[in-house]
Amino acid sequence: MKFFLDTANVEEIKRINELGLVDGVTTNPTIISKEGRDFKEVITEICGIVAGPVSAEVIALDTEGMVKEAREIAQWADNVVVKIPMTEAGLKAVHILSKEQIKTNVTLIFTVAQGLMAAKAGASFISPFVGRLDDIGTDSLALIRHLRQVLDQYGYSAEIIAASIRNLKHVEDVAELGADIATIPGSIFPKLWSHPLTDAGIEAFMQDWQSFKG
Ligand code: G3P
Repeated sequence: MKFFLDTANVEEIKRINELGLVDGVTTNPTIISKEGRDFKEVITEICGIVAGPVSAEVIALDTEGMVKEAREIAQWADNVVVKIPMTEAGLKAVHILSKEQIKTNVTLIFTVAQGLMAAKAGASFISPFVGRLDDIGTDSLALIRHLRQVLDQYGYSAEIIAASIRNLKHVEDVAELGADIATIPGSIFPKLWSHPLTDAGIEAFMQDWQSFKG
């Protein structure tokens, strides 16, 4: 399974990347705005840190505008992926860009049908939003399970990025259900290797060792 960082914070990315755990990065306009830095500058810097795909989202909502922005973003680095919103105009843009070998990540996916449309239009990645579906009381894990099933059934190559990850359980659940990737905020990532019983166990071992030596 691949793990992406859902952040544009360069320090967070460097720290976790040094553990060999980061296969890519995803951003969106909200994430970029939190850093208060120039869009191109921060994406280019992240692309230089991480070897895998780095998603940068277009701002335009019409096909022509999306394609124009995407062609420019695609020039920034070899590993940049253009994030496109899941709309009719977005699907048309994905279709045009796929013919130019520009990789896209279709975002804001909430149904199996939306995922199928994005995959069929030529997206390299599709991003179903787990946490936001949970927020409205919808079974987000059923969406991941069904997307996995239908993409495999029809042989689509688009990779499923489980996005809007809010906790450790989300990561474990989407891993079990066969999501190709989980994109995880920097605040959640350390929870993947932490457990209070691990900390307590280390403390007890150290105390016993000190008593033994004394
Ligand atoms: O990058 C898209 C997604 O992961 C955003 O998550 O927490 O804003 O729903 P969230």
